Amino acid sequence: MITIRPMNEADLDAVLAIERACFPRPWTAQHFLAEISSEHSSAVVAEQGQQLIGYLCLSVLLDEAEILDVAVEPGQQRSGTGAALLTWACAEALRRGATILRLEVRATSLPAIALYERFGFLRSGLRKAYYEQGIDALLMEKNFD
Ligand SMILES: CC(C)(COP(=O)(O)OP(=O)(O)OC[C@H]1O[C@@H](n2cnc3c(N)ncnc32)[C@H](O)[C@@H]1OP(=O)(O)O)[C@@H](O)C(=O)NCCC(=O)NCCS
Repeated sequence: MITIRPMNEADLDAVLAIERACFPRPWTAQHFLAEISSEHSSAVVAEQGQQLIGYLCLSVLLDEAEILDVAVEPGQQRSGTGAALLTWACAEALRRGATILRLEVRATSLPAIALYERFGFLRSGLRKAYYEQGIDALLMEKNFD
């Protein structure tokens, strides 16, 4: 069973190992520490048993929420963890009064785009060559009204 709980400092080694395995320009410990301590952010981890297998960082400012980072341990992908994290993010954004949930994703990250589309996110824009090696950023959003 997958459980979702708040991220804390003791999780950082496991979180950073997944972050480095998933992204060419990984967040550092400072990025995650800032999310853990910010009143505008919520950072959570997904666990299976005692094993940390994924995480998500969400920010909510007034009525706008944004998914800042989400990843699942490569060997554990396609088993429902990303969906569990997205379910949590949508519920938390709504609970904190957001009317829209936004995100940016590499246009080449097809599993992530498929996950977001399954959750009702629509494509709302493109930032050309925003990421490394000229990769575009796809902007996506989900309205709650
Ligand atoms: C995107 C990511 C978080 C998805 O996590 P996951 O645990 O594998 O996702 P789930 O198993 O919950 O999949 C949920 C749905 O997403 C879609 N999906 C996930 N992986 C997919 C893939 N490889 N191909 C196609 N669809 C995929 C499917 O609709 C899937 O539902 P299904 O398995 O019933 O068909 C994971 O692939 C990941 O960490 N990728 C690297 C980091 C990344 O790109 N993060 C997003 C940054 S914006």
